[in-house]
Amino acid sequence: MKWYKIPGIQNNGQPFIKRVKAGGKTICLVGFENQIFALAAKCPHAGGNLAAGWCKNGKLICPVHRYSYNLQTGKGSEGQNDYINTYPVEIRDGSIYVGINSFWEKIKQAFK
Ligand code: FES
Repeated sequence: MKWYKIPGIQNNGQPFIKRVKAGGKTICLVGFENQIFALAAKCPHAGGNLAAGWCKNGKLICPVHRYSYNLQTGKGSEGQNDYINTYPVEIRDGSIYVGINSFWEKIKQAFK
């Protein structure tokens, strides 16, 4: 796994939702209740920008049709039958890092 530093965001406990790029992916970075989550930025329902959404009860809400996704797991709410990818987050020296597996790392893990 490769770790990417996300510049320009202060890890100061304030809530935020930002669309960022890391490792060739577009990620929705969310600060919510003193935790930071990294999720896919594109809603699987109809492509809505999840970074324009909001958080409620531990879920990220898509602004287009209000589908919601668990911030920890990316799992869609009951009845949606969908999910979004999630990525690990680490804080190092006050900076935010997001971990992303390459395509080949994902293939290797699938055959372990
Ligand atoms: S595009 Fe996100 S809920 Fe429809």
